[in-house]
Parts: sequence; C-alpha cells; structure tokens
Amino acid sequence: MTTPITIAAVVGSLRAESFSRATFRAATRLCPDIEWIEADISDVPLYNQDVEDAGDAVAALKETVEVANALVFFTPEYNRSIPAVTKNAVDWLSRPYGRATISGRTVGIVATVPGGHLGEGVRRHLTDSVSALTDGVFDPSIAINSVTHRMHDGEITDEEALTDLGTWLTDFAEYVRDRDS
Ligand SMILES: Cc1cc2nc3c(=O)[nH]c(=O)nc-3n(C[C@H](O)[C@H](O)[C@H](O)COP(=O)(O)O)c2cc1C
Repeated sequence: MTTPITIAAVVGSLRAESFSRATFRAATRLCPDIEWIEADISDVPLYNQDVEDAGDAVAALKETVEVANALVFFTPEYNRSIPAVTKNAVDWLSRPYGRATISGRTVGIVATVPGGHLGEGVRRHLTDSVSALTDGVFDPSIAINSVTHRMHDGEITDEEALTDLGTWLTDFAEYVRDRDS
C-alpha cells in the first residue's frame, strides 16, 4: 500500500450534467489511496483586483488547495482554449502576487471533450498558464475524448477511458509523492 495522498479537484464547469464532473466522479472511484476534496468554484465570483479579499467562497477554494498534496483541474475545452470558469479559478489561485496559493503546488490537468480530438487547445493553454505559477505541472496532461460514447446513465463506463484515467492517476500520484518527499 502506498502512502495515501489528498488531491484537491477543480471542476471547470458549472453545468449540472457536466462531462468534466463525470470524469471527476470516475477519478474518485479509481485509486483507493487517493482522497479527493473538491475545491468548489460554483460560488466564486469573477476575479476583480479591487476586491482581492472576496469572501468565503474564494477563501474556501484557496484553503482546499492549500491543505491538499496536489491539485487537479478537470476541465472542458471552450473555443479551443480554457473555459472562463477554469481560468477564473487559476486567476484567484494566482493571488496575492508573490504569495500565490498555487505557487509551488503540484498540478494535473484532465480535459474532457465530446469530440474525437484530444482537447489540445485547453491542455496546452492551461499548461502554459499554470506553468507560469508553479514548477509542479505534471506532464503529460490527459484527455477523455468522445466522452458521450464512453458514458452510460451519466457515468463514464468505457473500459479504455477508465484504464487510461487510472494509469494517469497512478503516475500522477507517484509524481506527487516524489515532489513531497
Ligand atoms: C462556448 C463553448 C465553446 C466550446 N468550444 C469547444 C471546443 O473548443 N472544443 C470542444 O471540444 N468542445 C467545445 N464546446 C463543447 C463542450 O465540450 C461541451 O459543451 C461540453 O459539454 C462542456 O463540458 P461540460 O460537459 O463539462 O460542461 C464548447 C461549448 C461551448 C458552450
């Protein structure tokens, strides 16, 4: 048995039936030695530099990321790039300047897309953005593509997708442990 770790998850979609959230739920079932805590962004306001102390939702987001061993973004791709809600979370976690919550953190990126492509736009742009804030971005990121064909009753059931995600999570957890040791 490997050392248990805690991973904070940002789900970068507010949609009730979100595919990225289905991927997050699948991830929580795959590795018994990973404990997940959601870094909830549903009540996080749009970033405004005039109000850096923006209340409970932002404080909770930051605290969840701080107490975990690592952070994983489960995100869709919008217009071949980062959805605003995902980027908004990055922007809050990038502050305050010089003491960013995300600074030095270990970060993984999981894209979920309905199409046959591999979410290259969001993976590249999110990797670039977060890499400016921490040296701990795990390479590779991963995509679950053609997601609607890999789901049944709202859950990801496709064996190939679950195996790929499980392998990626195992590798990511090893990277987290290496960086923590
Ligand atoms: C504004 C907008 C832009 C989108 N752009 C892309 C895109 O570039 N690539 C892609 O794979 N899907 C794109 N989609 C489709 C999303 O993948 C789809 O809406 C998906 O359900 C969003 O993820 P979610 O289910 O986690 O909310 C876009 C959707 C919207 C609303």
